[in-house]
Amino acid sequence: MTSNSSVIIVHLSDLHFGGFADLKQIEALEEFVPSLNPTAIVVSGDLSQRARHGEFQAAHVFLYRLRKQIPAIVVPGNHDIEWWKSPLGLLGEKRKYDKYLRYYGELRPVLEVPGAIMAGALSSYGVAFGSLTWNVRDVAVKGHLPRSETRRVQEIFASSAPGLFKVLVVHHNVLAGGTGRMGLARWRSAHKRLLATGAEVILCGHDHHEGAGQIEGGLAVSTAGTHSYRQRGGRPSVFNLVTVDEQSVHIQHYRWVSEQRHFIPSDKVSFGRKGAPKVAVSVAGGDQGL
Ligand SMILES: [Fe+2]
Ligand SMILES: [Fe+2]
Repeated sequence: MTSNSSVIIVHLSDLHFGGFADLKQIEALEEFVPSLNPTAIVVSGDLSQRARHGEFQAAHVFLYRLRKQIPAIVVPGNHDIEWWKSPLGLLGEKRKYDKYLRYYGELRPVLEVPGAIMAGALSSYGVAFGSLTWNVRDVAVKGHLPRSETRRVQEIFASSAPGLFKVLVVHHNVLAGGTGRMGLARWRSAHKRLLATGAEVILCGHDHHEGAGQIEGGLAVSTAGTHSYRQRGGRPSVFNLVTVDEQSVHIQHYRWVSEQRHFIPSDKVSFGRKGAPKVAVSVAGGDQGL
């Protein structure tokens, strides 16, 4: 990147097309997102509510219109897979992802845009050995990030052109929510491996509560909210605008004002790209079960 160039990413998540999608927000996004002049759009999963055809089709139309103007990368969330068709993967991986793949084509997408490379890491496996917990509510909700995923992304970043900003996209929140609960099982191991990928920012969702923070004071994390009626504690919906320049990663929250039917800029957090201080600035809030 030259000193004048920057990468601008609109980071959306948890659209949850289906009974809970807030269509006023979806319509507003369709008009507002292109006006931000982004380099790319990232949707970090939970496009649907129940992985139904109609839900996927609605999300597909939304993305199709935006993609005519702006490149986009999408990863599946826990709501987008039919995990019950292959619990614990015993009947093979393919059954769980068939429907998602029919509409979105890839579980582990990679997108290169001017100034940046973006790689999706799959964390949504449904009821899987890697994310089994003692909490029954969490069984199909919790994500996990296998070593094979972080290794794969690490290799993609290592072989990318020098100077590209490296963006890792994953559905489950990698920082704790307000209740201190992580979206990912075995998160300590995941954090170490995420740091080793060489990513410069992680874009995630699942928590239905916006957040901006860092892993071990060095790796920026953008957590986007939801555009469904399933927000945390009646809070307004939020999406993030992630802007990168030579020195910093900036995470700007955009808050939905329902009476005025538009998004307004809200809090902004900036992290140094190199030699960042060892502090966590903020984390997403709320419990899981999303
Ligand atoms: Fe969600
Ligand atoms: Fe989710």
